[in-house]
Amino acid sequence: MTKTVLIVYAHPEPTSLTRQFVIETIATLEQQGHTVLQSDLYGMNWKATFDQHDFPDRVDNDRLSFVQESGHAYSSGQQTRDVIAEQQKLLAADAVIFHFPLWWFGMPAILKGWVDRVFAYGFAYGYKGQGNRYRYGEGMLKGKRALLSVMAGGPAEEYSARGINGPLEELLFPITHGMLFFPGMDALPTHAVYGTGQLSKTIVEKEIAAWQRRLKHLFDEKPIPFRHQNGGDYQQNILAKHIAADKEGITAHIDN
Ligand SMILES: Cc1cc2nc3c(=O)[nH]c(=O)nc-3n(C[C@H](O)[C@H](O)[C@H](O)COP(=O)(O)O)c2cc1C
Repeated sequence: MTKTVLIVYAHPEPTSLTRQFVIETIATLEQQGHTVLQSDLYGMNWKATFDQHDFPDRVDNDRLSFVQESGHAYSSGQQTRDVIAEQQKLLAADAVIFHFPLWWFGMPAILKGWVDRVFAYGFAYGYKGQGNRYRYGEGMLKGKRALLSVMAGGPAEEYSARGINGPLEELLFPITHGMLFFPGMDALPTHAVYGTGQLSKTIVEKEIAAWQRRLKHLFDEKPIPFRHQNGGDYQQNILAKHIAADKEGITAHIDN
């Protein structure tokens, strides 16, 4: 079955490792017969800051409430054109792949700004106008898959279970759980390349081959088993006592 995949990427330099991976993603997916949509954030000169210019028609001109204005702009069809275009791409996509370099243990500001602006009230939160009723596994983007492809300068050991940086999957929990699973998407385990500062050509080729193999399973790989808000594990949005009784923090929200 051919699918539609949106690639969102945040790197201005065509020869960067990030962009080399983007090229491979497009080629591999197209070879598989999939339709590829792209959001080249630097190329589009994406406006990264979420501000008053996002709301040309305000409910309240005296005080800027982002949530209120976001909901109003979304429901009244008055969002900016760039935001609407990205939401349309997301709705058309069966999977979304994000390519970015790890900057200060997170995503570059331009990509965070894409999330801030595109994930509007009514679209990615406040689904059906019902506050937090539908989220973490439910929402507008349910049924779509999401995958992060991350380039990290630090060595893999420093991101291992006891490594000084902390495990990468935990560092990226705000993205996989808080931004992707929150509006309903199934987040796949993150794909990372480590030690990017000193990779030989041979290693880069190996990493690209590993990424191509990974991409082949985009639609059948098991997602990170985050617990669903409305799946019975939570009581008033707190984990029930008998669920992951020996765990606290981030890992308790993963069912494995
Ligand atoms: C602003 C900035 C912040 C960075 N923060 C991190 C970091 O938190 N962890 C890390 O491992 N590498 C970090 N790095 C190194 C980048 O991850 C590295 O430059 C990148 O993976 C190289 O890939 P590229 O060729 O696609 O740019 C940072 C680099 C920059 C410029």
